[in-house]
Amino acid sequence: MAQIGYSKKVMEHFMIPRNVGVIENPDGYGKVGNPVCGDLMEIFIRVKDDKIDDIKFRTFGCGSAIAVSSMVTEMAKGKTLDEAIKITRKDVADELEGLPPQKMHCSNLGADALHAAIKDYWVKIGKIKPEEAKAEEGEEGESCGT
Ligand code: FES
Repeated sequence: MAQIGYSKKVMEHFMIPRNVGVIENPDGYGKVGNPVCGDLMEIFIRVKDDKIDDIKFRTFGCGSAIAVSSMVTEMAKGKTLDEAIKITRKDVADELEGLPPQKMHCSNLGADALHAAIKDYWVKIGKIKPEEAKAEEGEEGESCGT
């Protein structure tokens, strides 16, 4: 059994997170929170030629949530919006070589914040309606274990 249950990748992205920060006047912005633990994640995207040209995050939360944010921004950068919206919570956890079972819920915020930012952009350009952008919010009603 690993000493503390975190993969090397989680530790690496927690210690040296990628794409931390804010994009002023972003094309898309997503904010999601876990109502139980209060962890909060914000993702900012800049879109060029229908691709994620730049992406930054700000996370007020646990180490896993920070590693997840870092990983999801790395995964999304350079992808088309249609590709990036398909990144799932599980994809992020898999890329991080797993999270301890009690921390799996922390991987939810990353994909959810990314999707929210993409949908925010799509609402702005009239591709989807504001109601459609809300579809994902609170979809599983999971609680935070810490
Ligand atoms: Fe709340 Fe990780 S997201 S403890």
